[in-house]
Amino acid sequence: MRIDILTLFPEMFAGPLSESIIKRARERGLVDIRIHNIRDHTHDKHRTADDRPFGGGPGMVLTPGPIFECVESELPEGTHLVYMTPQGRPLTQAMVEELAGRDAFAVLCGHYEGVDERVREALVDDEISIGDYVLTGGELPAMVLVDAVVRLLPGALGDDESAQQESFADGLLDCPHYTRPEVFRGMQAPEVLLSGNHGEIARWRREQAEARTRERRPDLTNREK
Ligand SMILES: C[S@@+](CC[C@H](N)C(=O)[O-])C[C@H]1O[C@@H](n2cnc3c(N)ncnc32)[C@H](O)[C@@H]1O
Repeated sequence: MRIDILTLFPEMFAGPLSESIIKRARERGLVDIRIHNIRDHTHDKHRTADDRPFGGGPGMVLTPGPIFECVESELPEGTHLVYMTPQGRPLTQAMVEELAGRDAFAVLCGHYEGVDERVREALVDDEISIGDYVLTGGELPAMVLVDAVVRLLPGALGDDESAQQESFADGLLDCPHYTRPEVFRGMQAPEVLLSGNHGEIARWRREQAEARTRERRPDLTNREK
């Protein structure tokens, strides 16, 4: 899979996309992540990529020219372009799965007040939010999205089954997990998990997942995928 990220702050991506599971996925060639600096497509002395909003008001707006040029010169034609914005569709695991099934997509990170509306109208295919709150830029949301997608690529996780058993995979939250020691500070791990009875263990996990979902996220049960 190829993922292109368009940003004014490419250095922000160095850590999160170069560690742990994402790092290994890149090294194994499961994903080719390319970061593009929108500012490289400015043509004035100060490399200006933003300007004051028409009509007045606070903040700055990313101008369309550098973004159009970046998209047209750096992305293969027809690349699915996602704009990270608090006004987008709230991100769900189902949307992550849909993106993970693509050969490629690109992510546009806004900043300041966001991008000139003509960018959204002419270039953007989908708009995604990571929650009902406002961040300073689209870089952290883009990292969230890329992390969630890359870990679903076959071979990215040590054990591919782990992605299928996690929260949201089948409309349920995950069950509780325990590891050694069996008793920690007087707290005993559930006996059933130590029993070796795989049928009983699977039943217990399912019941726990259902109870947890009812208690914490009853909305998931009725949510459309
Ligand atoms: C300060 S925000 C702009 C908010 C915009 N003026 C509004 O009220 O909808 C700057 C940029 O951060 C990103 N951003 C902020 N919060 C986000 C969120 N919850 N989900 C996705 N992107 C977000 C977007 O790329 C946005 O263009």
